[in-house]
Amino acid sequence: MSTIAKPHAPEPRSYCLDGREVDLLHYIYGRPDIKELRNNPQKVLAAIDEYHTNHNMLMNIGGVKGAYITGLISEHKPSTMVELGGYIGYSAILFGDAIRANGGKKFLSLEKNPEMAAVSSQLIDLAGLRDVVRVLVGSSDKLLVELVRERKEIDQIEMLFLDHWQELYLPDLWLLEDMGVLAQDKSLLVADNVIMPGAPRYLEWVKATPAQKRAIVKKLNVHPLKPNPNLVYDTHVPQFQTDWGKDGLAITKIVGEEVV
Ligand SMILES: C[S@@+](CC[C@H](N)C(=O)[O-])C[C@H]1O[C@@H](n2cnc3c(N)ncnc32)[C@H](O)[C@@H]1O
Repeated sequence: MSTIAKPHAPEPRSYCLDGREVDLLHYIYGRPDIKELRNNPQKVLAAIDEYHTNHNMLMNIGGVKGAYITGLISEHKPSTMVELGGYIGYSAILFGDAIRANGGKKFLSLEKNPEMAAVSSQLIDLAGLRDVVRVLVGSSDKLLVELVRERKEIDQIEMLFLDHWQELYLPDLWLLEDMGVLAQDKSLLVADNVIMPGAPRYLEWVKATPAQKRAIVKKLNVHPLKPNPNLVYDTHVPQFQTDWGKDGLAITKIVGEEVV
């Protein structure tokens, strides 16, 4: 019996990438009510929730934190929202639907793993959100540079959802600070999983004053990144009970910039 070599694919972990994401597609497309799911984002999300509850847990934002963020979308009404880490498309469907309902135009879902991007693209299509949600395959830092500097598709971040791996939150935020796309009273940052598994370096930065951030930059070797410690952030961390345990979202507004 021969095996198929997969030299480029990431290693499965105990909670993801073990085949469950493709199994989810079989589950959804094998449902007797599949026709009712077409063009119905809420029913697609409910079907994903059912799979998560009855079959294999999925590392989606889920209903509790998801509802809090859709509340923020209704309040801020971004025309474009960007997410870092799309996985199987749950947050892209939930937030893309909310963006559309609030008069917005675009939700960009940046996902490094092409298999996950393929799964999410199918589910986004099924939900009827193809015109609003675009899945971009690649690593967040490279795609952000492409979107901002090369294609000039984004000149300001209105709302950003950070939900890839926690150690990447701070370098990606520094990249956005360097590219000058965070604007006072306009940009809103939402970071998931800041309590579990936790994003201590990101939380320290978004909660620090400019003086404290200047001290952090002096202490660390940040090269080749160029953070802007002079941005003044206002961050709060609402907490939630989720299926995975207690967690929090870091909600950050840009409230000013110190001139030094
Ligand atoms: C927690 S999951 C995202 C969950 C999704 N936002 C949701 O709530 O439905 C994290 C995802 O980030 C992706 N990821 C990890 N590193 C990345 C990177 N550098 N750029 C883009 N995506 C990345 C992983 O492949 C994984 O699919």
